[in-house]
Amino acid sequence: MPNLATHLGDFQFANPLMNASGVYCYDQLQLDAMAASDAGTLTTKSATMASRLGNPEPRYAHLALGSINSMGLPNLGLPYYLDYALDFQNTHPTKPIFMSIAGLSHADNIAMAHMINDNEFNGLTELNLSCPNVPGKPQVAYDLEATATLLDDIFSFFSKPMGVKLPPYFDLAQFDEMAAILNRYPLIYVNSINSLGNGLWVNPDSDTVAIKPKGGFGGIGGDYAKPIALANVRAFAQRLKPEIQIIGTGGVKSGRDVYDLLLCGASLVQVGTALYEEGPEIFTRLNAELDQELTKKGLTELDSVIGQLKTLD
Ligand code: SIN
Repeated sequence: MPNLATHLGDFQFANPLMNASGVYCYDQLQLDAMAASDAGTLTTKSATMASRLGNPEPRYAHLALGSINSMGLPNLGLPYYLDYALDFQNTHPTKPIFMSIAGLSHADNIAMAHMINDNEFNGLTELNLSCPNVPGKPQVAYDLEATATLLDDIFSFFSKPMGVKLPPYFDLAQFDEMAAILNRYPLIYVNSINSLGNGLWVNPDSDTVAIKPKGGFGGIGGDYAKPIALANVRAFAQRLKPEIQIIGTGGVKSGRDVYDLLLCGASLVQVGTALYEEGPEIFTRLNAELDQELTKKGLTELDSVIGQLKTLD
């Protein structure tokens, strides 16, 4: 049977699967369900310093080939997730947990990074620079200067393993510019991609938008996102220094989808829309299907897949 184990830096995982932040990670009940699943690890919901209710409902809609959401960072506040993570690391010493933060301002991000740095937390911190759903707050990672300033300030004191969650980019020049910035920092990974920001869907029965916040604009996930995710993972794998690994996120609902993201260069793979629709049992199926993909190719470990995409030269 193939060995599905993988790693990010010194962190080891039994398999490459985990939830995308925002799905099955709001509170202890959901996080415990993730922990009990066959996922290799889990992340908490992107936290702000204080708890937030998020945007008005309906704020998630199922679409023919995926989903649209504008949740608006509903979360229980960083202290809640830190408490959970501290407890988790004691009870699950071999399953490193991710803690995601998404400050509403530069100062919020700095304050949260300080809180994590000054704590006993020994997992991975993810700085979410790509939430498209907070009214009036543009996605930080589309502003290269703001991204560099934030990372300069964080890495002037932050000494724990950190990654960043990026939005999709659509031009090769953007990959060049963003990778050049990220390569300046001791990041251990980038997570690519967040949802396709500010899409819109029309309900043909009512001639209305599908969700209430922001006049119907929201992040698109599911099948719609897969080719964009593959391209972003591939483009960053080709540009980032080897110390920065990649978590691939976008459009995963089968073992083949996981395999494709691995081929493009991902070391771990997150599941969002399909986890929302199917629940944490999905990880049992995805592991089995990934196992079958490797077996079909006669491969025995993930290192034989990661980054091995072929071109038609
Ligand atoms: C949300 O809470 O609106 C989603 C967070 C994200 O896309 O980063």
